[in-house]
Amino acid sequence: MNISSFLSSITTPRIDDLKKGNIPKHVGIIMDGNGRWASRRKLPRILGHKAGVQSLRQAIATSIKIGVKYLTVFAFSSENWERPKKEVDFLMGLFVDCLNEELDSLNKNGVRIKIIGDRKKSPQKLRDSFRNAESLTSGNSKLVFNIAFNYGSRQEIIKAIKNMYEDAKKNKIEIEKLDEDTFSGYLYTGKTPDPDLIIRTSGEYRISNFMLWQSAYAEYYFTKTLWPDFNTSHYLKAINAYQKRNRRFGKV
Ligand code: FPP
Repeated sequence: MNISSFLSSITTPRIDDLKKGNIPKHVGIIMDGNGRWASRRKLPRILGHKAGVQSLRQAIATSIKIGVKYLTVFAFSSENWERPKKEVDFLMGLFVDCLNEELDSLNKNGVRIKIIGDRKKSPQKLRDSFRNAESLTSGNSKLVFNIAFNYGSRQEIIKAIKNMYEDAKKNKIEIEKLDEDTFSGYLYTGKTPDPDLIIRTSGEYRISNFMLWQSAYAEYYFTKTLWPDFNTSHYLKAINAYQKRNRRFGKV
């Protein structure tokens, strides 16, 4: 099913229950549980990743439908290289195939694709797909879809500090005047607003090096649902839970 048919097939009544004025602007998702989903079905782990793509399509379509403006997904962490080579190779191929197959539909639906993370280590084919996806969709603004690839938040922070140091040496910034906004601008996420809601699937209660700086005031939503089972209803449930939270940002 492509994005357009998903958009027209969302009929769940919960969408009308949402408070239109309180939709999170930026949602982050730690898509976890693909391997376990497959193992429980006695399938190879890679089929869990394949099944997870369908959940991602739904999350993108639903984000567009309800008015989320930024969606950031944790697709591959800097630590994921340690997985068996067969699984890593499969994931690299899956990213290329996915991007190439979905690009047209994403573009038509106004999605802007951005890659956050260190893509230098990725295979040439994938780097080409990243570049192509980013340049084709660069004029879109309905939804910014950030793909965190070879991403680690601590590494991102260190890289930001090194780049800032270089700029300070060239007198481009004054360290004495450094503030939070300037520092944020050095992160991969740049001027993206901080995430309001971070969802993690599969019953793990960890942040796992995902947007540590950016999520200082994010609301977290954890669910036992494995990523390949996470559908539009689950997503809307998460948004609904978010809307019940009382965000005070440290104030009373
Ligand atoms: C974590 O599950 C999931 C991943 C490491 C990969 C997720 C990637 C996709 C769903 C494809 C996305 C495609 C694009 C183009 C962004 P896990 O393997 O850690 O599951 P486990 O904890 O059960 O082992």
